[in-house]
Amino acid sequence: MEDKREITFNVLCFNPEVDEKAYFKSYDVVLEKGITVLRALNYIKDHVDPSLTLRFFCQAGICGSCAIRINGVSKLACTTQVWEELEVSKSKDTITVEPLRNFEVMRDLVVNIDPMVEKLKKYKSWVIPATKDADLGKKECTVMPEEFEPINPATDCILCAACYSECTINEGSNQQFISPLVMLRAYRMNKDTRDTVGEERLKVLVEDHGIWDCTHCYRCVQSCVKNIPIMDAIQGLREETFARGMTNSEGARHALAFKDDTMKLGRLNEFTLPLRTLGMFGAVGQIPFAIKMGLKGRVPPLLPHKISTRKQVQTMLEEVERDSKKSH
Ligand code: FES
Repeated sequence: MEDKREITFNVLCFNPEVDEKAYFKSYDVVLEKGITVLRALNYIKDHVDPSLTLRFFCQAGICGSCAIRINGVSKLACTTQVWEELEVSKSKDTITVEPLRNFEVMRDLVVNIDPMVEKLKKYKSWVIPATKDADLGKKECTVMPEEFEPINPATDCILCAACYSECTINEGSNQQFISPLVMLRAYRMNKDTRDTVGEERLKVLVEDHGIWDCTHCYRCVQSCVKNIPIMDAIQGLREETFARGMTNSEGARHALAFKDDTMKLGRLNEFTLPLRTLGMFGAVGQIPFAIKMGLKGRVPPLLPHKISTRKQVQTMLEEVERDSKKSH
């Protein structure tokens, strides 16, 4: 394969001081094989357009500051090879680069990550040990290898915000949602044997726009640049709420009703599910929606039947429960 080729970079640019809205600028550059997207963008900045604005630091996949959207997927510019990206690119000689989604754009590829930092603060995304402030640094606070093992994958997170950018609930909630990386952090801190505020942290995590709003789309897992099983952490937090008896939330009630139905019927009782999830007052608020659904002919059965494979569903649920108990 040739070692040099001409490549077009379509970069979504925006300067809030002069532009009303973002627009694509095209740069045609001849690049060598082995170059990363970050080096290519810096080449453009140095030789073609000094106004092109981007953020980076370590250039080694460690600091997380160079995350952008490359051909529609959030990833690190410094670890993404141009040649490999062209392999998957539909046009074979064009790469599209955009800033991360779910953040305000400050300029070109640089976004304002302050809301993410505020969420990390709100959910106390650090270890709070029992050691008094005055004694910190004087006494060791050890973690044994077997205690560290369960949180090991979560500690790989570099806060690059690729998952934050791809999160569909973040988008739908106008960025109010807690977001995957903050949940991952919370899970890691709650599982840390030095930490002492797990319950307090969890109480905030179950509030509005918290852990129960995730709809398991798995976009965070797919986009994680460190291949961290983020969904396991989200599930881990939810299981912790049950272990701590924190079941008085819509999310927890919904999960319990879901489990109850599938155990008894092998399927959901969609007719009573809203009532059991939202309570009487909450369910009343759903009446206009139910009427709309009814007018469209989408009415759940009043008396749902048990499915013929109910036993297999029960066995499956029991096995999942057993496995989950073993791993926690
Ligand atoms: Fe640090 Fe890319 S520049 S991760």
